[in-house]
Amino acid sequence: MAPAMHLTLIALFITSTAAYTNHTVGGTAGWLFDQNTNTSSANYATWAANQTFDLGDYLIFRTNTNQTVVLTYNETTFRSCSIDNSSDSDTSIYDKGNQEFGKPLTVEVPLTIEGANYFFSSASDGIQCENGMAFGINVSHGVGLPPSLNQPPPPAYVEPPSNTDGSLTPPATVESSGAGLRVGDNVRRVVGYALTFYGIFALVRV
Ligand SMILES: *[C@@H]1O[C@H](CO)[C@@H](O)[C@H](O)[C@H]1NC(C)=O
Ligand SMILES: *[C@@H]1O[C@H](CO)[C@@H](O)[C@H](O)[C@H]1NC(C)=O
Ligand SMILES: *[C@@H]1O[C@H](CO)[C@@H](O)[C@H](O)[C@H]1NC(C)=O
Ligand SMILES: *[C@@H]1O[C@H](CO)[C@@H](O)[C@H](O)[C@H]1NC(C)=O
Ligand SMILES: *[C@@H]1O[C@H](CO)[C@@H](O)[C@H](O)[C@H]1NC(C)=O
Ligand SMILES: *[C@@H]1O[C@H](CO)[C@@H](O)[C@H](O)[C@H]1NC(C)=O
Ligand SMILES: *[C@@H]1O[C@H](CO)[C@@H](O)[C@H](O)[C@H]1NC(C)=O
Repeated sequence: MAPAMHLTLIALFITSTAAYTNHTVGGTAGWLFDQNTNTSSANYATWAANQTFDLGDYLIFRTNTNQTVVLTYNETTFRSCSIDNSSDSDTSIYDKGNQEFGKPLTVEVPLTIEGANYFFSSASDGIQCENGMAFGINVSHGVGLPPSLNQPPPPAYVEPPSNTDGSLTPPATVESSGAGLRVGDNVRRVVGYALTFYGIFALVRV
């Protein structure tokens, strides 16, 4: 491997561990609700107010299957303490599919969108959320998303070739190299560029 490539990889490694933070929600208290007293194990609003959150950080929820983790960008959904009327486009539930009560669960949520991000537990028909299992954070840009969380944009739409009379040419005359392969190439190239750019950026920072 060329020495420059080596340096890039080393710099990439150093920044990728230093630039992003994993926030354990509630600290050692975790993300838990006591249904006998209707209390959460921590004050999550206070906890959140004491941290700064950047793109690429993770929230780590140490919990069990009696609680859920819902991420929404929609304040109405957040205030309703329910996912009943929510849309998949702005709300995700992270429960890892375990239906059994009281099983240990760790949920890792990457922060991928800047601005207001809301979290709550949708379990117990909103009772948990209404009694403290809810908080909002404001995600800042920081150094931006790492390549691992950054989806390359889809390939640009290409106008299909047409004859001078305006009729579409039959598919058989479209370039023979194969669209699937070309798309793959582009994605690899975009990721390569992103890594290289990121490496250079990292070197500047170190
Ligand atoms: C943060 O959490 C993510 C998801 O579990 C993990 O991949 C990453 O290694 C963690 N980073 C650190 C610095 O602990
Ligand atoms: C918990 O709160 C809900 C409504 O918020 C109430 O109906 C229920 O009786 C409470 N349970 C206890 C143990 O306080
Ligand atoms: C969080 O709280 C501790 C003390 O409880 C304080 O030293 C620290 O500066 C606070 N951090 C932020 C980001 O507010
Ligand atoms: C937020 O979600 C509610 C349903 O909970 C929906 O009616 C509303 O249109 C959504 N808002 C936005 C900005 O998408
Ligand atoms: C969901 O929408 C229905 C119909 O509009 C409404 O009756 C219900 O209260 C809504 N639920 C929540 C949690 O907002
Ligand atoms: C989980 O919920 C079940 C059913 O409500 C309850 O019996 C159990 O004690 C709870 N477990 C924990 C660890 O909170
Ligand atoms: C979030 O933080 C940005 C700057 O980091 C600020 O401009 C914005 O007003 C904040 N938004 C909220 C909802 O606090």
